[in-house]
Amino acid sequence: MAVRPSRCVSWPCRLLSDTPTRPTGWRLARRNWPDVVLAARGDEPVSRVAQLDTRCGRLFLRDLCPPPLLESLQPDRGLAAFTRRPEREHAILQQVAETGHGSVAIARTETGVIVASLVLSTSVDWWRDLNGVYKLSIQTSRDWRRLGIVRQLVDFCVRAPWIEHLILLAMGLDWHWDLQGTGLDAGGYSDLLRKLLLPAGFREVHTSEPNVALHASNLLLVRVGARVPPERQAALDEALFIAPWQRREIHIGRGA
Ligand SMILES: CC(C)(COP(=O)(O)OP(=O)(O)OC[C@H]1O[C@@H](n2cnc3c(N)ncnc32)[C@H](O)[C@@H]1OP(=O)(O)O)[C@@H](O)C(=O)NCCC(=O)NCCS
Repeated sequence: MAVRPSRCVSWPCRLLSDTPTRPTGWRLARRNWPDVVLAARGDEPVSRVAQLDTRCGRLFLRDLCPPPLLESLQPDRGLAAFTRRPEREHAILQQVAETGHGSVAIARTETGVIVASLVLSTSVDWWRDLNGVYKLSIQTSRDWRRLGIVRQLVDFCVRAPWIEHLILLAMGLDWHWDLQGTGLDAGGYSDLLRKLLLPAGFREVHTSEPNVALHASNLLLVRVGARVPPERQAALDEALFIAPWQRREIHIGRGA
């Protein structure tokens, strides 16, 4: 059972290897590269591993998680922020990794229990026609919070070279927030997300995206990688305030 000390401290993670430790049977063949990496048009992706020692135990951080590895792990019982069921969260992680539409990074224990995840998924709805734009979702198991795990996981993930080719969107929508579990109100929760993501290169932007615009405490944080082409940045700037169907009209109008 996870121990939850009243004041936990974590130490900066240590990168164990720049080379992938691939489980038997998994080869990161080009056809299996996640589309985040293909969109990045970068070098061969490397699934990195880092060690993170917390007061609750040693963890391993891993990005570009291979599907067979995810399948071999178990979700912690408190990993339930988005669907309320750890098995469902685990299935979603596997699905993202298997389809290659996005990528999965995790923090896991030495005994193979997933305690936190960071998912990059293909942007849909309002952002659907933007290339190289991915939505970021983060969560830590209720039993492993305030150990600095997500801070370290975010920091670890944004150090991957291919991330610099991408635009990441973190949509803070208050119906996803665990206000009860964190003891924060909506304003405090959005401050938490700012505190967590601004140091990792995100900036807060205004948008008329309907979900974000619905409540004052909702927010949109954007990280534009250092190697994102200017036209993709311009497309995002336009998309912040113009609906997808109007964008098309504008493009058609421009082309006519
Ligand atoms: C938000 C969430 C991901 C934070 O994960 P975590 O692993 O507990 O975060 P960390 O321990 O890395 O803390 C990051 C920072 O937030 C602060 N923080 C975390 N929880 C807090 C709380 N309940 N109250 C105040 N500050 C808090 C920490 O103090 C830390 O800041 P510091 O490094 O300056 O001390 C976690 O609470 C969670 O999974 N919530 C449900 C899902 C969710 O809301 N996801 C975000 C939207 S996609």
